[in-house]
Parts: sequence; structure tokens; C-alpha cells
Amino acid sequence: MAVLLFISILGCLFGQGTAQASTKPHILLIVADDLGWSDVSWNNPHVMTPTLQTLATNGVIFNQTYSQPTCSPSRTALLTGKFPYRLGMQRVMNSRKPHGLPLDEELLPQKLKKLGYATHMVGKWHLGSCKWEYTPTERGFDSFYGYHHGSQDYYTHKSARALDLWDGKTSVSDQNGVYSTELFASRAEDIINQHDPNTPLFLYLPFQSVHTPHQVPSSYLQTFSTVQDDDRKSILGMATALDDAIKRVTDTLKGKGLWDNTLTIFMSDNGGEYSDGQSNWPLRGAKGTFWEGATRVPAFIHGNMLDRTGYTYHGMMHFVDILPTLVSVAGGTEDPGLDGKNMWRSISTGSDSPRTEFVYDIDSGEHRFAIRVGDYKLVTGNRAPKDDWYAPAEMQQMGILTEIGNESGPFLFNIREDPLEKSNLYGVAEYAAVQRAMRRRLNELTPYEVPFPDLADDPAADPSNYGNVWAPGWC
Ligand SMILES: *[C@@H]1O[C@H](CO)[C@@H](O)[C@H](O)[C@H]1NC(C)=O
Ligand SMILES: *[C@@H]1O[C@H](CO)[C@@H](O)[C@H](O)[C@H]1NC(C)=O
Repeated sequence: MAVLLFISILGCLFGQGTAQASTKPHILLIVADDLGWSDVSWNNPHVMTPTLQTLATNGVIFNQTYSQPTCSPSRTALLTGKFPYRLGMQRVMNSRKPHGLPLDEELLPQKLKKLGYATHMVGKWHLGSCKWEYTPTERGFDSFYGYHHGSQDYYTHKSARALDLWDGKTSVSDQNGVYSTELFASRAEDIINQHDPNTPLFLYLPFQSVHTPHQVPSSYLQTFSTVQDDDRKSILGMATALDDAIKRVTDTLKGKGLWDNTLTIFMSDNGGEYSDGQSNWPLRGAKGTFWEGATRVPAFIHGNMLDRTGYTYHGMMHFVDILPTLVSVAGGTEDPGLDGKNMWRSISTGSDSPRTEFVYDIDSGEHRFAIRVGDYKLVTGNRAPKDDWYAPAEMQQMGILTEIGNESGPFLFNIREDPLEKSNLYGVAEYAAVQRAMRRRLNELTPYEVPFPDLADDPAADPSNYGNVWAPGWC
């Protein structure tokens, strides 16, 4: 007994740097694009995502995890651990404007690299690419295979007739016709197969699916032949194609013997756009708004390192929390300058969340503000439309109908009691004190805003300057 103890102390003292690295979990961080609350099978049984369903139910389903309302801001929160309003990253990156995620931020892959991880990214970046310094391989990723901008054709890998597909800094022109969901799964398989199992792996896999355009191999549509709305049918097919791609990746991790030591996180970058066939039902609103449907996203975590699994975690969590949580799992120390909180103990044991508030957004340029404090949510300023409760086509066929919102703000909701945002408490006498306190908190946070820069399109960005490729190097 004493000898064993002695040996294990020796192991602790001298094992660092050699054996310890392989004991850190591999991390698979999967992000779906525009996948709504009701576009996963655990929230809507008409959706066919069996791989994700099995992982989610054998892991921990996050039922109150928030993203930003749109893509670049969500990815900012995820990779920096900070709310985008503090970084001037409140809106999506435009491919013709000289803008990107501030270069003085140390990103999640940079932090994990310092902790001994091999870091790879496959999929969508959308955090700036007007110069190489903004792009993944200069921001902590050992390798990058994917696209820099927000959306493109799934087969030609072009947007506005110009190519945007990269292997590191080399434009990839020989994958025309290969569906991106399958292309990215193949690349992930290659990375895993070539990976040295003694080194911890960080694989960031932000898929193109299920963002528009509506493109999916026709075999995926047959299952949904009874769905009468073509856009919805495509989205359902795209979700299943995504699920199949994730199965390929997890099967490869299993084949390589890495799976038992892999921590998987899955999340959507924001809610769906109901006019495109995605659905956040029964949550209110759509992508780009401050409604719950835009920001409360389907997500889960899976892995043997969790003490407790097979349950739904109801604690409040935000994308900014992923960085400190993963850094702690990887053996790093906490950075007090972040907005994110280390959620590891809470989610791995099912205890209360350390998070009590968050900022949906503060964007003075667009005059839009929303915060959550405790159970309450305040939304003020200009209001985006899309405030309905949109039932997806397959539910409409069963008689569940879309309800029209059509109210003007400001809004005050008790999200715990009223997660569907049906009852606006703003101006109701009984809630006057809550309303004042929420206003006060918003006023305290507003001075920390870095405004989103108002930039003109730069003609130098035009792909015609680069042989019809959306190339960095013009800012
Ligand atoms: C998740 O939250 C939603 C909205 O509050 C609720 O309707 C649903 O029942 C919750 N799911 C689970 C599994 O608890
Ligand atoms: C929305 O509200 C406005 C003003 O209250 C009203 O004129 C309009 O008819 C409403 N629209 C719907 C679809 O309910």
C-alpha cells in the first residue's frame, strides 16, 4: 500500500510532460450551422438524427445553452470566451469589408496548443479573412481545411461564382462536385487516422450544414417524401446527412482507439431561419433576433470523463463558457479576464450553474439591446421582425399552426416561467422594480461596448483580382 502510494506520487512528480499528455482527453467540438431547436430528434421526433440522439442521450443534453443570434458573433464567443459586444464583433463578417476577430485575442486553439494539444479545424471559419493573420492557421490551428466566409454552394464551394475552399493557405480547386458535409467528414477521418494517439487531439468541426442553399444528395430526401414543403424537406435531409457525417467521424475515433478518451461537444451556432425551412418551434422567433429561438440552441456533451450522464442539464450556459470549460478539462488555469465561466464541475455532476446572467447583445449602431439576469430577460431598442412561433411543415400538416407574434417592445419576460415568451411583463406595475433593476444592469454593461465598425466595401476584395478566388491579402 505504502509502496503503491509512493509510486503514484513519483508518477505525479515525474510523469509531467511525458506520460501526462496522453491522459488528457481528446476534444471533438462540432458546430452545426443554423440548426434550429426543432431540427434535432431529441426536440422533434420527426427529425432523423440517430447518431446525435444516441450521443445526446448517453451524454448530457444542454437545455438552456445560449449562442449569439448569428454566425460570426457566436463563433467569436466560442473561440474567445468573451461576449462579442466587447470586441466589436456583434454582426456577421462581410467578405468585402476589412474586418476580423481582433488579433490580440488568444483563441481556444492557441490555449489548447500551449497545453500540448494538436489542433485541427475542418469547416467554416467566418471570423475574418482579409489578411492571412486573421485566418485559422495563424490563430492556433495546426491545420485548416474549409472555407473562410459565411455560405457557399455545397458542391462547387463557390459563393458569388468565386471559390472559397482552403487547405491551409492553398486554394482547393479539385473538389468540385463533392458535397461539403461528406468532404469535411473525409478530412476529419484523415486527421484522426494520421493522429499520434499519445498527443491529445483538438478537432474543431464547424460543418456547413444546415445553412442554405438547400442542397443535399437526393437519397436523403426519400425518407421525408411525405413532407410537403420543399425547403423543410431539404433541411430534414441535410440534418440526416450531417448526422451520417458525424457517425463517420465518431466511428473513425473508435477504430483508432481514441473514442473512450474523447470529450465531444455538439452545438448549433444559432437558431434556424424559418423562412428557409429550419425550425425553432416551440421557441419564439428566428435567427438574427433576440428571441429565444435565435439564441437557445440544441447542444449536448458526451464523454467518459463526465461523472454523471444520461440526464438533461437545465443550468444557464452560454457559448462564452465553452473556452474556460475546455481549458480546465485540458489542465489549464482560469483566466479572470474572460466573460466565460468554467462549467465543468456543474455539467459533469449536474449541479447548479455558476452563470447567473448574460448579454444577448449590445449593439448601439443598430440600437438593439438585450440581457438576461436571473430568470428575467430585457429587450429594448429597435426590434427585428420574425417574432412568430413557427411550426415546421411536418407539424403544420398535423394541424399544429404557426402563431403570429406582432407586438412592439420593449419586452420583459420571466424565461424560467415563460420560456416561449408569450407574456410581456414590460410596463406591468407588479414588475416595475424588476424592470428598473434590469435597466440599471444594462446601463452598467453598455459602457463596455466596442461598437461594430462601420466600414465600406473594399474593391480590392473582389475575387476577380485573385483569379476568381476569395483570397486574403487585401487589407
Ligand atoms: C427543455 O426546455 C424546454 C423549454 O423550457 C422545455 O419545454 C422542455 O421540456 C425541456 N426539456 C427537457 C428534456 O427537460
Ligand atoms: C400587427 O399589428 C398591427 C398594429 O397593431 C396591426 O395593424 C396588424 O394588422 C397586425 N398584423 C397581424 C398579422 O396581426
